[in-house]
Amino acid sequence: MSNPANRQWVLARRPEGMISVDDFAPATSDIAEPLDGQLVVKVTHIAYEPAMRGWVREIPGHGANLPIGGVMKASGVGEVVASRHPEFQPGDKVSGMFGWQQYAVVDAVGQLLPVQKMPAGVTEEMALSVLGITGLTAYFGMLDVGKPRAGDTVVVSGAAGATGSIAGQIARIAGCRVIGIAGGAEKCAWLTDEAGFDAAIDYKNEDVSARLQALAPKGINVFYDNVGGAILEAALDNIAIGSRIVICGGISGYNVADDAAVGPRNYMRIVNSPSTMSGFLLGQFSARFDEAREQLGAWAREGKIRFSVDVQEGFDNVPATLLRLFHGQNLGKQLCRIA
Ligand SMILES: NC(=O)c1ccc[n+]([C@@H]2O[C@H](COP(=O)([O-])OP(=O)(O)OC[C@H]3O[C@@H](n4cnc5c(N)ncnc54)[C@H](OP(=O)(O)O)[C@@H]3O)[C@@H](O)[C@H]2O)c1
Repeated sequence: MSNPANRQWVLARRPEGMISVDDFAPATSDIAEPLDGQLVVKVTHIAYEPAMRGWVREIPGHGANLPIGGVMKASGVGEVVASRHPEFQPGDKVSGMFGWQQYAVVDAVGQLLPVQKMPAGVTEEMALSVLGITGLTAYFGMLDVGKPRAGDTVVVSGAAGATGSIAGQIARIAGCRVIGIAGGAEKCAWLTDEAGFDAAIDYKNEDVSARLQALAPKGINVFYDNVGGAILEAALDNIAIGSRIVICGGISGYNVADDAAVGPRNYMRIVNSPSTMSGFLLGQFSARFDEAREQLGAWAREGKIRFSVDVQEGFDNVPATLLRLFHGQNLGKQLCRIA
């Protein structure tokens, strides 16, 4: 194929503390010829996950997910411009793991998130939010790990984010009373007014433990945690007997050194109100992604799930957009449109 220069963002150094735009550097490359089974995708939208902070971390004894100089990994959507896979043709709109670059040469199958054709009627925003990594995470984390039952009181932290907002609405569909915890009055109003949460707690301006006690006097049956730290401790103070604590993530600790992270000091609450605390990884459920996409798509079409996206613009803004997640500037799924 003709070979326009491919603009990329690569990891320039290992971030220390709060990740910064200076941890990344611009680069250009030629676009490799696709091998058998590969596609060349012109990327139009990049999606962001807090887990990206972990992907650039050096884990003692385990090495690093991404080498210095490597193209930053990311999911995204784009258009196939060349294909050596029989099921994909130039012009197909696809989602997959394409990285921070204008053109990606990728294996069509065999990745955590295999390349998927976008079904008719599905927008880029929908493919990357409610039907993307965060929607799938919310689906399996809430239903399979949290196991909500009708009448349960469910609390979600990071509730106005991409995963939390969907997780809470799934619990509502399951017949639960749902309380969200988020930063700021605007996000809390969105949760109750738009996303149908029964109540919201502004952790930046309210005493979370006291509010949970008032809103859930009989205790929390399912706590779906995206945040960790002090918010996890406040929830543990208020769990019901036999509760399920779902550790989806712990973003409050992602930009601090491992030895400075705050653990749940009151974890004996799990013993004294016999409860279970379970972590999970989305990849565990890969065999069921189609089932989840079908159900999430149906709920979105029926208006039972509302989702919000925050779309930044331009290839130059690709690294800065990642920082928005860690400063709470996104409402719903964080994206950047680059073409
Ligand atoms: N287990 C899995 O397989 C899996 C897969 C995907 C995602 N996850 C996890 O799910 C969680 C949510 O991810 P997402 O992609 O949906 O991101 P997101 O919730 O859309 O965005 C991150 C949000 O976290 C909040 N936040 C940031 N720093 C914080 C801090 N120090 N303390 C408290 N809240 C903070 C901010 O909201 P506020 O304005 O409300 O503070 C921010 O908007 C993350 O923990 C992520 O790692 C897990």
